[in-house]
Amino acid sequence: MTQVSNTVRFVLDSKIVEAQGERRTTTVLDYLREQLQRTGTKEGCAEGDCGACVVMVGELNAAGNGVDYVPVNSCIQLLPTLDGKSVKTIESLKKADGSLHPVQDEMIKCHGSQCGFCTPGIVMSLVNLVQVLPSPSRQQITDSLSGNLCRCTGYTPIIDAAFKAVEKKSELKLDDHADVALLKEIQRAHTPTLTLDGDIIVQPVVRTKKGNEFVSPATLAEVADYLLKNPTTTLLAGSTEIGLQVNKKFSRPEHIMYLGNVAELRQVTETAQAWRMGAAVSLTQVETLIAKAYPDFAEVLRRFGSPPIRSTATLAGNIANGSPIGDSMPCLMALGASLVLRRGDKKRKVLLENFYTGMKKNVMEAGEFIEAVELPKPVAGQVFRAHKVSKRFEQDISATCAAISYTLQGGKLSGVKLAYNGLAPSPCRAPKLEAVLEGKSPTAVKAADLDAAITASFTARDGLRATWAYRALVARNLVIDFIEEQKEVA
Ligand SMILES: Cc1cc2nc3c(=O)[nH]c(=O)nc-3n(C[C@H](O)[C@H](O)[C@H](O)COP(=O)(O)OP(=O)(O)OC[C@H]3O[C@@H](n4cnc5c(N)ncnc54)[C@H](O)[C@@H]3O)c2cc1C
Ligand code: FES
Ligand code: FES
Repeated sequence: MTQVSNTVRFVLDSKIVEAQGERRTTTVLDYLREQLQRTGTKEGCAEGDCGACVVMVGELNAAGNGVDYVPVNSCIQLLPTLDGKSVKTIESLKKADGSLHPVQDEMIKCHGSQCGFCTPGIVMSLVNLVQVLPSPSRQQITDSLSGNLCRCTGYTPIIDAAFKAVEKKSELKLDDHADVALLKEIQRAHTPTLTLDGDIIVQPVVRTKKGNEFVSPATLAEVADYLLKNPTTTLLAGSTEIGLQVNKKFSRPEHIMYLGNVAELRQVTETAQAWRMGAAVSLTQVETLIAKAYPDFAEVLRRFGSPPIRSTATLAGNIANGSPIGDSMPCLMALGASLVLRRGDKKRKVLLENFYTGMKKNVMEAGEFIEAVELPKPVAGQVFRAHKVSKRFEQDISATCAAISYTLQGGKLSGVKLAYNGLAPSPCRAPKLEAVLEGKSPTAVKAADLDAAITASFTARDGLRATWAYRALVARNLVIDFIEEQKEVA
């Protein structure tokens, strides 16, 4: 018999909170506001776009002597994902003597707030930033705010406040001393529970009266086993798609399995040829990992959502969701990435370019899941370019994103791999365009040949974000730009 306490335990300002009897789909934001009266955290859009709901969520660091925080959109995170973690809200910043955090102080002094609705989210984004970067550049400050919309103040006073705040270096770091011991106290088991026959029992965090569960396994073996037994389970990684389905489509999945506590899925390993990124590795980590080898890919990721989105969102979630305008896939396809798929204890490797079978359809079988994404490292002379075109530079969805990889052999393009999103029912390679490029010198490539290949490859469709004429033009011009300006990867 499994033991279900139906209790989600997390640390909030040096106290353990035990959330009991909550739905599996209650959001962190709703719990904070409605059950804990932490109403400083606001709800604007309830879909991860405005940043009014940003809080900091922390986990014990690797050494077990401190807490690593990330900014999170609490409106799209489900409460049971907090189990074993620490939370800081805007109310957490006030010290016992009543004094405020330097970011709050300077927001007041620099007139960084008018109606105040966005202010708690903005403060939390900045406080999170200065935990890891006590001397941020202007670019790092504006990046950290790219998911915080302010409609009345304007950003200049807010950025001024950030610069002023970081002058008070000794006051920036939050005191998490007391939280460390409590976080250790609420950790769940790191090994599966077994029956006397040796079968794995996944201990649910929450189970409803109907028998629906929210499970949070700690090992890959548990994930694989549970999925075999319950193949309709909804996998939950960063929750940046699922959270929207819960809020906007009122989705109430039967079973939900959170992957964020599976140690193997959070690992990155590497060989001389490739990186292997576990399915629960966040986009923030991926961005750092690949920045030197593939700067254009890192730039596409820097413009993917916002820091609170990227701190939890994963490549595997982006790939499995399979949106036609998913941004990571063109880069991954042009770089020859593959997926490690697992069902039970059987694994198979599938090139990402062969993964999709239609709009939001893929080759995964019932009970199968993405265990890891394998990304080849650059080879000598390889050129990789990528660019996302969207109406707004930050926190926006692609009209199209294109990525290309090639080498120049005797001045001719060789081994060309070109991929797009936004042009077809799923992100895809463009073999007809590749054929136009392969073996030619960049100056011999004609725009008209690329246009003809685009027409022959894709069905013309106007969309909400761009007309077909615009998309096709951008698709062609990006290629010309990519081959004219050759930036060789190190
Ligand atoms: C405000 C906002 C901005 C966004 N901006 C962008 C953007 O710029 N570009 C872009 O491409 N997308 C964007 N997205 C979409 C979303 O962030 C991405 O698709 C993200 O990568 C999803 O990852 P996740 O880990 O959060 O997925 P989740 O929401 O946890 O899951 C998404 C889907 O993948 C499945 N899944 C998760 N892990 C696995 C696995 N290991 N194996 C099999 N299936 C799995 C889930 O069951 C679910 O169906 C944005 C979303 C929001 C809310
Ligand atoms: S309420 Fe808008 S991002 Fe959460
Ligand atoms: S102060 Fe009103 S939205 Fe920012």
